[in-house]
Amino acid sequence: MGGVDYFSINDNGEVVVTPPMGDKGGPQISLHEIAKEVEDRGLAMPVILRIENILGSQIKLLHDTFNHVIKETGYKGGSFKGGVFPPVKVNQQEKVLESITSYGKKYNHGLEAGSKAELIAAISMLHNRDAYLICNGYKDEEFIDLGLNAVKMGGLKCYFVVEVPGEINVILQRAKQQGGVRPLLGLRTKLTTQAEGGQWSESGGDNSVFGLTISQMIDVIDKLKEEEMLDCLHLLHYHIGSQIANISDIRAGAMEACRVYEELVKEGANMSIMDFGGGLAVDYDGSNTNYHSSRNYSIEEYCYDIVESIITVLDKNDIPHPTIITESGRATVAYYSVLLFNVLDVSSFDPPIRSLRHSLNQQTISLRISCRHMRWSHRKQYKSAVTTYFSIATSHVSSLNTDRFR
Ligand SMILES: Cc1ncc(COP(=O)(O)O)c(C=O)c1O
Repeated sequence: MGGVDYFSINDNGEVVVTPPMGDKGGPQISLHEIAKEVEDRGLAMPVILRIENILGSQIKLLHDTFNHVIKETGYKGGSFKGGVFPPVKVNQQEKVLESITSYGKKYNHGLEAGSKAELIAAISMLHNRDAYLICNGYKDEEFIDLGLNAVKMGGLKCYFVVEVPGEINVILQRAKQQGGVRPLLGLRTKLTTQAEGGQWSESGGDNSVFGLTISQMIDVIDKLKEEEMLDCLHLLHYHIGSQIANISDIRAGAMEACRVYEELVKEGANMSIMDFGGGLAVDYDGSNTNYHSSRNYSIEEYCYDIVESIITVLDKNDIPHPTIITESGRATVAYYSVLLFNVLDVSSFDPPIRSLRHSLNQQTISLRISCRHMRWSHRKQYKSAVTTYFSIATSHVSSLNTDRFR
C-alpha cells in the first residue's frame, strides 16, 4: 500500500481513511464523522488523529519490499535489517517509538539515536537483541559510556557511527577505560553526490557539515590499525538529505557509497553492514514527479536501486553482500498521523470540465427519454427549449475549456 491508498474521497465528498487490516484494506472511515464525534465528546479542534495500523503497515511494506527484491535479485546479504528510525528528530512521541518497536519486532527493525536523550529513549524501548541501535550525531564521553554499557551489559547491537575525525579517539579511550570493551564501529562518509533541489540537499556533497572525507576516513583506519582495532569497524553510513525526490540521486548516492565500502573491505576492515540513511521520499502532492513535495519512484524502485548498486559494485571483486539498513523516518511515519482542525476560510473554483460535460450528457439522455412519452405538440416546444438550454450550457463548457488553455 502506498500513502495514496490509505486516504481517498467518498461519494459524499468526505476524506476517508482506510486503515489496513491483515492483508486486506480495512473499513473506510470518514474523517468528517470522526471530527463530529470528537466534538460531540466535548473536545475542541485541533486534534491529532493517530492511525496505528498505518505505522505497522509502512514498516511491513518496507521490509516486505526489500526482502522481495533481495529474493528476486539473488542478493546474498541476508534479509533487510530494519529501517532504523530517528526517534526525536523525526517524531518525538513516546507512543510512536513504542509502536515502531513492537510492530518492528518480527522484522528486527532497529532504532537510530542522534543525541544522548534519544539514546536513553532508544535503549529503554529496544528490547530485541537482534535489532541494531545506530548512534549518529555528536558524541561526548557520557553518550559513549551509555552506548558501551548497552553493549557490555545489555547485549545490544549498539553501533557508534564516527561523524567527525576527533570522535574516534574519544570512543577508543572510553572503551579502554571501561575495561577494554570492543566497540561496534561505523563511519559516516561524505559523498560528493548531492540530491538536487529540496530543502535538505546541503546534507550531501563535499561541503556538507556531516561525515568524513576520504582522507579523514584513511586517518581513522590508520588509527584503528595502530590500536589493533580495525576488526571493530563493521558499518558504512551516509545520508545525503531527506525527501529525495529524484530516483537518479538515490542511485548515484548508493553507487558512490558502495565504492567506498569496497575500499574499506580492501583496507582490511571487518565490514558487514551498509546503512543507506534516510531520504526515501513521501509523495505529498500525489504528482509522482521529482518536485520536492513528491517523488518520481515507487518503494520497489527505491529498494531495487539500492540492492542492484551493491551487487553491481561488489560482485566485481567478489566482496560479500552486506546487511542493508535504511533510516527511513518520514516514509515510516508521515501517513500515520492526521491533524484535524476547523475550516479557517473557503475558496471556490469551477467544477472540473469533464464532470460538467458528463452531467450534461446524462441530462440530455434522460430528457430525450421523457420526450418520448409526450404529446407531439408539447414535445416540439419542449425540445426547442431543451436544445436552447443545452447549446448555452455547451458553449459555457467550451469557454471554460479555452480559458483553461489560454
Ligand atoms: C542521519 C539521518 N538519518 C535519517 C534521517 C531521516 O530521514 P528521512 O526522514 O528522509 O527518512 C535524517 C533526517 O534528518 C538524518 O539526519
